[in-house]
Amino acid sequence: MNGPLILGIETSCDETAVGVVSGHTLLADEVASSVDEHARFGGVVPEVASRAHVEAIVPTIERACEKAKVSLRDLDAIAVTAGPGLIGALLVGTSAASGLAAALEKPLYAVNHLAAHVSVDVLEHGPLPAPAIALLVSGGHTSLLRVDDVTHSITSLGSTVDDAAGEAFDKVARLLGLGFPGGPVIDRVSANGNSEAIEFPRGFSQSKDQADHALDFSFSGLKTAVARYLKDHPETKVADIAASFQEAVADVLVTKALLAARREGIDHLLLGGGVAANSRLRALATERAKQQGVIVRTPSPRLCTDNGAMVAALGSLLVAGAVAPTAPGYAATSHLPVSQIAFT
Ligand code: KG4
Ligand code: ZN
Repeated sequence: MNGPLILGIETSCDETAVGVVSGHTLLADEVASSVDEHARFGGVVPEVASRAHVEAIVPTIERACEKAKVSLRDLDAIAVTAGPGLIGALLVGTSAASGLAAALEKPLYAVNHLAAHVSVDVLEHGPLPAPAIALLVSGGHTSLLRVDDVTHSITSLGSTVDDAAGEAFDKVARLLGLGFPGGPVIDRVSANGNSEAIEFPRGFSQSKDQADHALDFSFSGLKTAVARYLKDHPETKVADIAASFQEAVADVLVTKALLAARREGIDHLLLGGGVAANSRLRALATERAKQQGVIVRTPSPRLCTDNGAMVAALGSLLVAGAVAPTAPGYAATSHLPVSQIAFT
């Protein structure tokens, strides 16, 4: 063992996920996803997710402890996502974590999901660079952050004003008849398509947007443009539409992340969230960042999507930073701002 032993619980969306870390070492990362139950609705249904969490939470905690070869009594602390996310889903995780912490008399850290996404990279690439720009892109969030210290200081630089990047992938996949979740299948199909076939719009990239929305994102116009294109050109190869759409998303994400780095004078960029698993986004970020002298750190795709290890990783950093644990009586919050890294 090389650091505090932390159990991390994540239930903010459709993954019931439990991780165990010791310091910066990943010991277990168990995920029970209800994604298949949402597929026929084309998006996550909050009630269905909550019910699935209730069923999966105890077995997933047990499996994670077995994998890590630890007993609950060995833990130094328990960390749990307390927001942002679906409130009913969050409550399942926070109730379990609070119950465990009280019964075992262990400290509890109720933490921010976005800060956990940023933290996970310590498990693969060591201490986080600081300051860093973080681009977090998933089905629920699209955020550009300035991270001065992941345990104490995170500032939002920009976010989406409408759909999240992953939501755009999911909606466009639905338009193209490719199923849910859309990201992985668009990624796969795009490999056989021409990304220059169609010039789709890059939201908030015009000069008129520079004053107010230079670091914000908008994806609903892109989704509408794909729908319109499909209607007007029904004969176009699906792979070409998918690849051109994917290129538009990757281009705007990378352009704005690197603009944030330039504006803030920061030379490290961290990627996270489910969409950071996208092969084109990863390649484009690496290629363009290099030209700008920015170093990109990207967790493995498995640690980009929601997982419990990221929550445990943040818990470990909070313990190492001697941050006070969360007092009983905190409340999970669906719109928790990123500046609130943990409840005190
Ligand atoms: O982080 P995550 O697992 O859960 C949320 O917090 O939302 O992200 C899920 C999202 C979905 O919208 C999914 O379509 C997208 O991430 N995603 C991808 C890829 N893999 C997952 N998007 C683009 N390319 C991928 N390879
Ligand atoms: Zn997430």
